[in-house]
Amino acid sequence: MSKLLVTGGAGFIGSNFIRMMLSDSGHEVVNLDTLTYAGNLENLTDIERHPRYQFVRGDIADPVAMEEVFATHKPDVVVHFAAESHVDRSVLDASLFVRTNVTGTQVLLDKSRAHKVVRFVHVSTDEVYGSLGAWGYFTEDTPMQANSPYSASKAGSDLLVRAAVHTHHMDCVITRCSNNYGPYQFPEKLIPLMIANALEGKQLPVYGDGKNVRDWIYVTDHCAGIRAAMERGKAGEVYNFGGNAERENLFVVKEILRLLGKGEEQIHYVKDRPGHDRRYAMDSSKARALLLWEPKHTFEQGLRATVDWYLLQRPWWERVRTGAYQDYYKQQYANRC
Ligand code: NAD
Ligand code: TYD
Repeated sequence: MSKLLVTGGAGFIGSNFIRMMLSDSGHEVVNLDTLTYAGNLENLTDIERHPRYQFVRGDIADPVAMEEVFATHKPDVVVHFAAESHVDRSVLDASLFVRTNVTGTQVLLDKSRAHKVVRFVHVSTDEVYGSLGAWGYFTEDTPMQANSPYSASKAGSDLLVRAAVHTHHMDCVITRCSNNYGPYQFPEKLIPLMIANALEGKQLPVYGDGKNVRDWIYVTDHCAGIRAAMERGKAGEVYNFGGNAERENLFVVKEILRLLGKGEEQIHYVKDRPGHDRRYAMDSSKARALLLWEPKHTFEQGLRATVDWYLLQRPWWERVRTGAYQDYYKQQYANRC
C-alpha cells in the first residue's frame, strides 16, 4: 500500500481518479487542491469520509506551502493533475496558465526530489502535439507543436518533467490523453456545456464550421490508463491514451440533442476560437502493448452514460452554474481545520 498525493483531485479527472483508487486499490489518497473555479469538493461527497482519504487545500505554485504538505504527508507517489485546463480561458489570459502549469509543476518536482518521492506521474494532454490534418495520428515521438497558451504551458511542464528525469534521475512518467468526457466535468467544456444548455433551452454555441475533430475518451478509461502508467510505466517514458473515437464537434452536439429528444434548432454557430486546432487523434498502441491498457467504453456507450448522469445529477451542475458549489468548502471543511 502506498500513499498517493493527488494534485487537482477536486477537478473533473482527478476526482474520478481518486474514486477509482479508493474503490479498487488499498492506497491512501491525499487530495491537494487549491480550489480554483474548477475545483469542486461536491465531486467527492460520496467518499469524503473514507478512512483512506484526506483533503488538503494548497497551491502547487507556492513552495512554502508545498514544503509543509510534503513534510507532513510524506507521499510515496505524486499523481499530478492540477492545472488550468480550459483553452478559451488561456486565450483571454495566459498568465495563470504559466504560473500553475509551468511553475506549479516545477515546485512539485523540486519537493518530490527533496522528499524522495518514489514515482511522479505527470498527467498531460494530446494538445501538446499541435493539430493534425485529415490523416495521421499522434505518437509519443510526434514533436511538440503546441498552439494555444494552454497547450504551450502543458508542453513546458512536460519538458520540465523530462529534464527532472534526465538531470536528477527522478522516476517520472508522462501520460498524454485525448479529450475526456463523463461525470463531474465542469460545464464549460463542450459535452457538459451542450447537455446543460440543451436542458435549459439555451443556444448551443458551435465554434466555426463545427467540423473540428476530437478523439473522445470516457474519463474512467483515462483514469485506468494513468493507474497503469503509475504501476507499470517505465521511468522517463511517455504514454499516449486515446478513446479510438474521433468525432466532429457538430456530430457530438447533434447526438446529445438526439439523446435528449431535443431539436437541432438550438444549435447556434458562433465565431471560431482563435487558433482553433482542427483535429486531434491518438495512436495508443504503446500503452496497449506495454501497459496492457485499452479503453472499455465506445463513444456511444460513454455518451449515453454521460447524458444520463447529467440528467440525474441536475442539482450538481445547477449549483456549478449558479456558483453555489463554492460555498461547500466553507460549510463542510473550514470549521474542521
Ligand atoms: P479541471 O480544470 O477540471 O481540474 C483542475 C483542478 O486543479 C481543479 O480542481 C483546480 O482547483 C486544481 N488547481 C488549479 N490550479 C491549482 C493550483 N495552483 N494548486 C492546486 N490545485 C490547482 O481539469 P481536468 O479536466 O480534470 O484535467 C486534469 C488534468 O488532466 C490537467 O492537467 C489537464 O491538462 C489534463 N488533461 C485533461 C484532459 C481533458 O479532456 N479534460 C485531457 C487530457 C489531459
Ligand atoms: P473543449 O471542450 O473546450 O476542449 P479542447 O478545446 O481542449 O479540445 O472543446 C472541444 C471542441 O469543441 C473544440 O474543438 C472547441 C469546440 N467547442 C465549441 O464548438 N463550442 C463550445 O462552446 C466549446 C466550449 C467548445
